[in-house]
Amino acid sequence: MGEFRIRDAKVEDCNLLRDLILELGAFENMLHLHHVTEQMLVKDGFQTSPPVYYAFLYEVKLESGDWFTAGYTIFSIGFCLRWGKYTYLEDLFVRSDYRNKGIGTKLFTSVIQKSRDEHGSRSMHWAVVNWNEKAKKFYRQFGGDECKGSIRFRFDENHKFLQTSN
Ligand SMILES: CC(C)(COP(=O)(O)OP(=O)(O)OC[C@H]1O[C@@H](n2cnc3c(N)ncnc32)[C@H](O)[C@@H]1OP(=O)(O)O)[C@@H](O)C(=O)NCCC(=O)NCCS
Repeated sequence: MGEFRIRDAKVEDCNLLRDLILELGAFENMLHLHHVTEQMLVKDGFQTSPPVYYAFLYEVKLESGDWFTAGYTIFSIGFCLRWGKYTYLEDLFVRSDYRNKGIGTKLFTSVIQKSRDEHGSRSMHWAVVNWNEKAKKFYRQFGGDECKGSIRFRFDENHKFLQTSN
């Protein structure tokens, strides 16, 4: 692999970030569940302090000298009584032509280091769709454990509790 860099996403990357999120959504057959907009990404990542989420882009240098985004990751910092601060890995995605070259590993370890060193995160968790055996294998290589003894619950956006009263 030639020259590469991992950098924080900037506000002007939000349009690209949204496209990448939708690429991952399509890969997971969950496009219909993705309502994220560029405006949401701008507001929550760049106009809120501290940011609601953080994003890294993995870029490779093309022969033309331009940088091309081969992958990205998004994470946020949460709090729970078990761990205190923890990292929630929301997305990790490498474009298909760039897989199996170590890019996912570099992005994943960057999230761990940044959230540990800069945010004081003491744990990390994330979800994988049941059928995604490649991703499960990838995460197991790092010693990731499946959560046993609990299941995830959620309200979707149409739930009555999430409707505003005015
Ligand atoms: C899962 C995913 C992020 C992994 O990214 P990646 O860049 O392919 O990951 P890596 O290259 O670091 O590791 C993948 C494999 O390549 C191997 N590898 C790493 N560097 C390598 C290199 N330089 N040469 C050859 N193989 C290499 C790794 O050992 C690993 O082996 P495995 O297939 O036995 O697990 C990527 O496949 C992806 O985006 N998939 C689609 C979206 C997805 O599933 N995202 C996760 C949602 S939870």
